[in-house]
Amino acid sequence: MRKIIDWIDERIPMTATYNKHVGQYPAPKNFNFWYYFGSLAMLVLVNQLLTGVWLTMNYVPTAEGAFASVEYIMRDVEFGWLLRYMHSTGASAFFVVVYMHMFRGMMYGSYQKPRELLWIFGMLIFLILMAEAFMGYLLPWGQMSYWGAQVIISLFGAIPVIGDDLTLWIRGDYVVSGATLNRFFALHVIALPLVLVVLVFLHIIALHEVGSNNPDGIEVKKNKGPDGWPVDAIPFHPYYTVKDIMGVAGFLIIFCYVLFFMPEGGGYFLERPNFEAANPLKTPEHIAPVWYFTPFYAILRAIPDKLLGVVGMGAAIGVLFVLPWLDRCKVKSIRYRSMLHRVNLSQFVVCFIILGYLGAVPATPTLTLLARICTLGYFGFFVLLFVYSKNEKCKPLPERVTG
Ligand code: HEM
Repeated sequence: MRKIIDWIDERIPMTATYNKHVGQYPAPKNFNFWYYFGSLAMLVLVNQLLTGVWLTMNYVPTAEGAFASVEYIMRDVEFGWLLRYMHSTGASAFFVVVYMHMFRGMMYGSYQKPRELLWIFGMLIFLILMAEAFMGYLLPWGQMSYWGAQVIISLFGAIPVIGDDLTLWIRGDYVVSGATLNRFFALHVIALPLVLVVLVFLHIIALHEVGSNNPDGIEVKKNKGPDGWPVDAIPFHPYYTVKDIMGVAGFLIIFCYVLFFMPEGGGYFLERPNFEAANPLKTPEHIAPVWYFTPFYAILRAIPDKLLGVVGMGAAIGVLFVLPWLDRCKVKSIRYRSMLHRVNLSQFVVCFIILGYLGAVPATPTLTLLARICTLGYFGFFVLLFVYSKNEKCKPLPERVTG
C-alpha cells in the first residue's frame, strides 16, 4: 500500500493535499450545531447529482413526453419513485441547509475580512442554485411548472427597451413551450451543475486559505503554540469527520422521515397543481413559486410597480453580496456584539420568515401591507447595520475560544 501511495505522491500531491485539507486542517475546536450545515450542503449536493443522473436515464425532455415520463419513473421504473422523491425532497433540503448555513455566517460574521471572497463564492452558489431549482421545476411539465415558469420569465419583460426581446430569447418561443423545456433541461442537467461544482470547489479553497471562523469570531490562526499549531484548533480528521457523521445521521433521520412519509411536504415540496399535466389553455387559480423562493416573490409583489418590484427582488439578493462591506464592525460574532445588532438580526429573520409565508398565499390588502412592512424590515437590516456598525459598542473579545 505504502509503495502505491508513494508512487502516486511522486506524480501528484495526493497525501499533501489530503493533509492540507483534511488530515492536518486546523479547525477551531469550538464548532457548534451551526457548523454541521456546510458538510450537509455537500451531502445534499452529491445526492442531487447522483439521483439527477439516474432520473435523466428515463426522463424525456419534450413537451409531449415529459409529464408521462415522470409518471413512468414513479410507477414502472425500479425504485424510480425513490429516486424522484430523493431528488424533489433533496431540492427543498438543499435550501433548508443552505439558508441555515448562510444564517450561521451572518450570526458569526463569517463574511467579514478576510472571508469576503469566500462569502461571495457562497452567494454565487446561492444564485446558481436558485436558477438550477427554477429550471428543474419546469421539467415535470405539470401545471405549476408551466405557469410558474410563465410568470417568472415574463418578469424580465419589465426591463425597459430590451424586456420583450429578452423574454422571447429566454423562452425560445412566444409562450413557454417544448423549446423552453429543452433548453432548461440542458442547463439543468449539465451547465449549471458544472458551474455549481466548480464554485463549491473554489468556496472550499477560499475557506482553507483563510481558515474557518468560529462561534466566538476570533481568529484561531493568530494564537499559535511553540510547534506552530494554533492552540485553539484541532485536526479536521478525525475530530470533525466523526462529528459531521453525527450531523449526517441527524439529518438523514429527518430527511428519510419526509422522504417516506410526506414526500410532497404538505404541498410545499411538490405543489398540488403539478400532479396535473401542463395545460397552456388553463391558468391555475393561484400561482406561487416553491417555498424557497417565496420570500423574494413576496418582496416582488409588495412593490406596486412591476419594474420596481423586479428591481426590489433583485436588490434583496444583491444586497447580500455586499454584506461584507456594509458591516463595518471589527467584532464578528453576535456573542460579543451590541443588543441593537442582536435585535436587528432577529427582526431580519422574522421578516424573512413572514415574507416566505406571504409569498405562498394569495395577496389581500392587509397581507400586502404586512409584506410591505416586512420588506422594509428586510432592507432596513442592511441600512441600519451600515449606520451603527462603525461605532458599535461591543463586549470585549476573549483571548481564547470559549466552550
Ligand atoms: C452548495 C452549497 C454550499 C456548500 C456545499 C458549502 C460548503 C461549505 C463548507 C463544507 C464549509 C466549511 C464547513 C462550515 O463552516 O460549515 C463552508 C463554509 C462557509 N460557507 Fe459555504 N457552502 C455552500 C453554500 C454557501 C452559501 C450560499 C454561503 C453564503 C452566501 C456560504 C458561506 C460560507 C461561509 C461564510 C463559510 C465560512 C464559515 C465559517 O468559517 O464560519 N456557503 N461552506
